[in-house]
Amino acid sequence: MSLRTKFTIYISFLILLVILGISFSIFITQRRLLLKQLEGSRQNIYKDFTYTCKEALVVNDEIQILNTIRSIIKTHNPAIVYSGYISPAQIILISTRDEGHEDHFRAHIYREEKPSVRDFLSPKNEKIREFSTPMFISGEYRGTIKAGFSQSFLESEIKKGVVTLGKRVLEVAILSLLGGVILASIIAYYLNKPIKALAKAANEIGSGNLDSKVSIRTKDELGSLGKTFNEMAQKLKELDELKDSFVSSVSHELRSPLAAIDGYCDFLIEGFNRNMPREKQEKSLKIIKDATVRLTNFINNILDIAKIKAGSFELRRTSINFYELAEEIVSLFDSLAQQQKKKIVNQVEKILPNINADPERVKQIVTNLIGNALKFTPEGGEIAVGAKLEENGQFIQGWIKDTGPGIPADSLDKVFDRFYQVKDGGMKKPKGTGLGLTIVAEIVKLHNGKVWVESDLGKGATFKFTLPVYKKEESA
Ligand SMILES: Nc1ncnc2c1ncn2[C@@H]1O[C@H](COP(=O)(O)OP(=O)(O)OP(=O)(O)O)[C@@H](O)[C@H]1O
Ligand SMILES: [Mg+2]
Repeated sequence: MSLRTKFTIYISFLILLVILGISFSIFITQRRLLLKQLEGSRQNIYKDFTYTCKEALVVNDEIQILNTIRSIIKTHNPAIVYSGYISPAQIILISTRDEGHEDHFRAHIYREEKPSVRDFLSPKNEKIREFSTPMFISGEYRGTIKAGFSQSFLESEIKKGVVTLGKRVLEVAILSLLGGVILASIIAYYLNKPIKALAKAANEIGSGNLDSKVSIRTKDELGSLGKTFNEMAQKLKELDELKDSFVSSVSHELRSPLAAIDGYCDFLIEGFNRNMPREKQEKSLKIIKDATVRLTNFINNILDIAKIKAGSFELRRTSINFYELAEEIVSLFDSLAQQQKKKIVNQVEKILPNINADPERVKQIVTNLIGNALKFTPEGGEIAVGAKLEENGQFIQGWIKDTGPGIPADSLDKVFDRFYQVKDGGMKKPKGTGLGLTIVAEIVKLHNGKVWVESDLGKGATFKFTLPVYKKEESA
């Protein structure tokens, strides 16, 4: 059963329940009201009757009493079944609605000292409610008058009224229910529409179309779900692109050094046969060595990422002099920088306190950042390594500044994501796999530090990180 049908049925059921509840309460209230009204009018009739009888008794007019008894039956047939009067001398005057039953009702007309109400069944099994009133004039008993009202007639009147009311209520209920069902179905349609769109888009994404988007313009929860869905689809698309980019980088990173090793090995083997000069042999071996180093670095990066993911990347912290560490790495890179006609300088303050960190991992941070700076800075550029103590005295802040192309603002955070590489204007990816900065960020994080990059596009980039200062008590 579709969501729309379910919703419509559910809402219709609720509407039905509400209508039934309201109808029932209208019914009960109206029934009570009707009963009260009819009983009230009955009492008024009886009051008028006793009043007229009293007037006749005052003037001692028995004929008028008889007329009154007769006229109340005539006027209120079939509501009143009989009426009567018994004089102090036991003379009975009676009038009945149903001819032939006088004797039955006559038996009811006897002297009474107090007003009373009594219920009984007529010979026709009709429920009768009898009112009787003794008449006193100036304290003297002047007879008793009685009137028997038909209770069955009263009930049938109520029934008639209730049936008419019931019909009305039923009409209104059916109309409201119909309106409710139509409205519920329309609401369900509009609620279901975005859900359907989401299901369709999810289906498309599931079958590989990552460009699939939903357009839900409402400002409610469904609207925000649609927005989140689109963001998720966008993220998936980016991840998919990253994956493609990684696959191509990996194959390139593996293939090019392997091709170099393969080619230069062949070259060397052939050269041995033809007494190749020693310098050429040395040059070839150096290229092979470089290619092996590149392969090893690449594989180490991949392994580091795997360790980080598995949470088994361990630190061996000691007290490190950051100036000396920077000096060591800068001098390692110095000849390479000179070859590439770039300058590299160490601006780390000499009087920095030692840091509490894993020396191998800190070297990895600085090497990766200087490696990137060298890679992206054109000839004639300058790379500076620096560090200072942070104001709180708890961390040192290190930086590697270059005069390369810089990084666009929208990529400043993303460069630390796995496999992310900024494409240049011609949409070409740089060499490498986009793992270096991810490793840097993870190492800094393991040391409870922060890492970020600031860049003036076209003028250069400065990568900054913080590492904790070594405290004496930490050695204990
Ligand atoms: N100093 C820099 N100047 C300009 N862009 C940079 C700089 N450092 C990093 N980037 C950008 O950030 C991206 C990610 O750097 P990262 O070091 O993670 O990867 P990579 O250098 O491309 O590859 P890998 O380090 O895995 O060999 C780079 O591809 C480059 O686009
Ligand atoms: Mg790198």
